[in-house]
Amino acid sequence: MNLPNYVKVVEVGPRDGLQNEKTMVPTEVKVALVDRLTDAGFVNIEAASFVSPKWVPQMADGAQVMASIQRRPGTLYSVLTPNMKGFEGAVAAGADEVVIFGAASEAFSQKNINCSIAESIARFEPVAAAAKEKGVRVRGSISCSLGCPYQGEVPVSAVADVVRRLRDIGCDEIDIADTIGVGTPVRVQEVMRAAAAEFPLDRLSGHFHDTYGQALSNILASLDVGIAIFHASVAGLGGCPYAKGATGNVATEDVLYMLHGMGLRTGIDLDKVVRAGDYISQAIGRPNSSRVGRALLTKWASAADAAPACV
Ligand code: HMG
Ligand code: MG
Repeated sequence: MNLPNYVKVVEVGPRDGLQNEKTMVPTEVKVALVDRLTDAGFVNIEAASFVSPKWVPQMADGAQVMASIQRRPGTLYSVLTPNMKGFEGAVAAGADEVVIFGAASEAFSQKNINCSIAESIARFEPVAAAAKEKGVRVRGSISCSLGCPYQGEVPVSAVADVVRRLRDIGCDEIDIADTIGVGTPVRVQEVMRAAAAEFPLDRLSGHFHDTYGQALSNILASLDVGIAIFHASVAGLGGCPYAKGATGNVATEDVLYMLHGMGLRTGIDLDKVVRAGDYISQAIGRPNSSRVGRALLTKWASAADAAPACV
């Protein structure tokens, strides 16, 4: 296996992880989560969404979150922007990167952003152009690249087609997203290779939800074809409001444990991420979905119990 020295792990928990929570998570909890992740050393954190609050109420406080976080030089804070209204909010909030999000499936595009794939590209075009003009980075995300909750199979050619369209409007980075976590390694490699025929391999990323427990295998398979950017969500938080039954992204702690164990550099402090995962799981009253997080927290607790009492 030809492995990169460095892997960029993008933390998407504050956005993808929290957007699906039914009970409103207080703004100060979102801010504390981002600050803990910043302190752990991520170079890219997806911090908020500037979408319709009627569609995703949990993300309605994006401007307050962005105004309150402690930014670290060298970390990019990204936000989702489906249209110019979102872009204007993002720029006012000082976002370093905007994410335009489409799909490789027509059915999902309609459910998620209320328009066809072609209409979505037409909406994204002015966003990408305005971002270029303002020197803001643009990332394009392609949902349902490995399967769709409404349409089922998604042809590889449909993914490649959206990659080409996002490339043509100027995306700096493109995410191949397995929204419902159905992909398996050989298929993932096929999709990544098709995407790489249209867009530079070193600017493609894997965004894997872990619904079927395939995400780590899919990351390994992607590394094998040269992908070196992956998205992950602390404590495995999350799900998509428009993909029923889909669980969160692969847990960041599990990804870091695997990459560090393979000798790959990420620049991220795993222990701090485990503590951030414990913090947010407790704050929102959810079980911690990271196996590595649970294992390390148990190990630390039993080491503390075994320590001689101070007298
Ligand atoms: P629409 O209803 O077709 O849009 O929604 P519209 O232009 O007719 O606007 C309707 C109302 O929304 C208007 O307000 C607008 O002002 C307002 P009203 O006049 O009724 O009071 N509005 C906005 N407000 C704030 N910010 C905005 C905005 N835009 C319109 N940016 C729209 C179209 C795209 C806006 C809507 O469908 C939407 O917001 N969708 C967001 C869906 C979403 O956030 N999904 C989850 C994130 S994507 C994801 O998780 C997948 C990903 O992780 C990859 C993967 O795993 O697959 C990225
Ligand atoms: Mg997602």
